[in-house]
Amino acid sequence: MSSHALVSAKGRHSQEAAGSVRKLALLGAGKLGEGLLAGMLSSQFISASRVAATVAHQPRADELRHKYGISASTNNREAVAGADLVLICLKPQQVRSVLAEVKRDLRKDALVISAAASVTIAMIESAIGHPVRVVRAMPNTPCLIRQGMTALAPGQHATEQDVRLARVIFDSMGRTVVADEKHMDAITGLSASGPAYVYLIIESLAEAGVKLGLPRDLSTELSAQTLLGASALVLHTGEHPAKLKDVVTTPAGCTIDGLLELEEGGLRVTLIKAVVRAAQRARQLVEGQNS
Ligand SMILES: NC(=O)c1ccc[n+]([C@@H]2O[C@H](COP(=O)([O-])OP(=O)(O)OC[C@H]3O[C@@H](n4cnc5c(N)ncnc54)[C@H](OP(=O)(O)O)[C@@H]3O)[C@@H](O)[C@H]2O)c1
Repeated sequence: MSSHALVSAKGRHSQEAAGSVRKLALLGAGKLGEGLLAGMLSSQFISASRVAATVAHQPRADELRHKYGISASTNNREAVAGADLVLICLKPQQVRSVLAEVKRDLRKDALVISAAASVTIAMIESAIGHPVRVVRAMPNTPCLIRQGMTALAPGQHATEQDVRLARVIFDSMGRTVVADEKHMDAITGLSASGPAYVYLIIESLAEAGVKLGLPRDLSTELSAQTLLGASALVLHTGEHPAKLKDVVTTPAGCTIDGLLELEEGGLRVTLIKAVVRAAQRARQLVEGQNS
């Protein structure tokens, strides 16, 4: 399919999906929730008059109402009443109690999409207490500039149409994949936490430039664009990263010396261990464990 046809198809799906949602309840309009809200409004997935968002503090609700023209409050029950789509962007530890609070107001045919890390579909189903269509989503912060990576996992009652609708929401914020729920903790440790690891790498490369006498701004730009370009090449070509690395690495050139330093410093193992640790931690978040 040509890119134009793909864009048109996406636009058509967005319009079809937009027409199908009569009321969206966004529970927990914090950093992620606001980012998703802004994306859904600007992609015209939904109009402001159909959104009811909730937060814990009234001043934050007032801010959201003025900024986006949506209905915003601290009243989860009112927000959920009549909603055919409920988007959960609460902290993991808050999900169970908020669902217990709203379950009687939840329409039986509502679709629930949850972006809360660590909260399983089974937990959501059991907190609601009746068979409910759930799609679990794991986005990341580059969604805020439509360069995000989101993984979706459908629950046992979710239909193909539900997954399509979730895709329309998250496609407008970047790239979307559908995965089995058993992979969600790994995905959390890799692509949801991943931007933080990448910022550390960008910062370190920029420091190297500064050490070699480059102005900091220039060094940061060189570093960030290098990661962006290399990432784009991996996605664009579909080549194994090792093959692309070989293309840069001229025999007896300078890159092989740099790579040797990285191997000696254990970059590869360190990154693998970082993702594994974050994935293990993701499993504990819902219980609010501190260690
Ligand atoms: N940030 C990310 O990169 C990212 C990526 C993937 C998934 N997630 C998941 O997204 C969820 C939210 O993360 P976040 O970074 O956006 O956190 P956040 O900024 O702290 O947002 C949480 C929001 O929930 C609101 N809230 C708290 N208690 C509430 C209640 N009882 N009823 C209604 N709203 C309530 C808070 O209101 P106030 O603003 O008034 O305090 C806040 O707006 C988490 O589960 C996280 O795992 C985040």
